[in-house]
Amino acid sequence: MNTRQLGRSGIEVSAIGFGAWAIGGPFSADGKPAGWGEVDDDVSTAAIHRALDLGVTFFDTADVYGTGHSERVLGRALAGRRDSATIATKFGNTYDEATRTLTGTDVSPAYIRSACQRSLSRLGTDHIDLYQLHPGYIPLSQVDDILATLESLVAEGLIRAYGWSTDDPERAAAFAAGPHCAAVQHEVNLLSDTPEMLALCDTLDLASVNRGPLAMGLLSGKYGSASVLPADDVRGDSPEWMRYFRDGRPDPGHLARLEAVRDVLTSGGRTLAQGALAWLLARSGRTVPIPGIRTPGQAEENAAVLARSPLDQAQLEEIDTLLGR
Ligand SMILES: NC(=O)c1ccc[n+]([C@@H]2O[C@H](COP(=O)([O-])OP(=O)(O)OC[C@H]3O[C@@H](n4cnc5c(N)ncnc54)[C@H](OP(=O)(O)O)[C@@H]3O)[C@@H](O)[C@H]2O)c1
Repeated sequence: MNTRQLGRSGIEVSAIGFGAWAIGGPFSADGKPAGWGEVDDDVSTAAIHRALDLGVTFFDTADVYGTGHSERVLGRALAGRRDSATIATKFGNTYDEATRTLTGTDVSPAYIRSACQRSLSRLGTDHIDLYQLHPGYIPLSQVDDILATLESLVAEGLIRAYGWSTDDPERAAAFAAGPHCAAVQHEVNLLSDTPEMLALCDTLDLASVNRGPLAMGLLSGKYGSASVLPADDVRGDSPEWMRYFRDGRPDPGHLARLEAVRDVLTSGGRTLAQGALAWLLARSGRTVPIPGIRTPGQAEENAAVLARSPLDQAQLEEIDTLLGR
């Protein structure tokens, strides 16, 4: 089975993980939906079990996904199978469970400690394997204090390793000064390459945990120019930062780029989603894509990448050429 190390932690995980944002169900931020619409917890649980059965061992969630709901569903699904799973969750954004809304950020030592305890309780476990700072642009001046708190959580056995979910290489490097920093989680997919971050992971011995590996579903090819995403889906009423969907529709430029590389991605009988994940596994030996998975069918399609080889170097170059890079 295709596995990867979480940087210097030595923790071994499946090369394809399971992103658990969508299975948290509805919640909101700044008056807009931050979830992916309604969910059926039984379907989410079946998806987690299917992924585990097919060799997926790395599960990424956050305390804020569904303001606690994603962690609860994941914890219940992993009950009795905790030892087969590596759990990554996140802290640093504040939320109100009663109204299912995000309220701000807090990275004070006291807040990190209380957030950790709440995540442990919802996940039904006595330790978190990878604990990630969620807000991506906390000032560098606060990093030392955050690292000191995380190191004390490691010493107490509550977390095994930590990382930052950030797209800023300078911040990722600052966090890597912490002895138990094992990973940076950042956005990367074939429409949005990040050579600088991947090089940094090599230099600092960090895993590159890849969020948005399917460009929020666009790279699966199931959304076309006529598609309109529902208003209760984060893609349907897009916040400012969203680039793959605009006003509820897939971005036409990205759809055209996907069309341009379709044949390379689907060579060898891969589906588009499998081709997009195989691109990430080919980019570096440190990448761990965490596609968001909502159904057992998506778990099967994405987990099948574990049994195949990544794209080869010539295919990576062909994709760069076709995309004008
Ligand atoms: N700041 C952060 O730390 C941060 C930010 C974003 C994401 N993340 C993490 O990264 C994970 C993945 O990123 P993402 O959810 O933004 O986007 P993604 O993985 O690029 O896309 C996920 C979506 O694609 C669709 N999909 C997945 N597999 C498919 C398949 N085989 N065929 C067709 N459609 C498929 C599903 O939605 P539909 O079926 O509804 O289309 C799924 O929710 C998240 O779950 C979360 O754990 C972290």
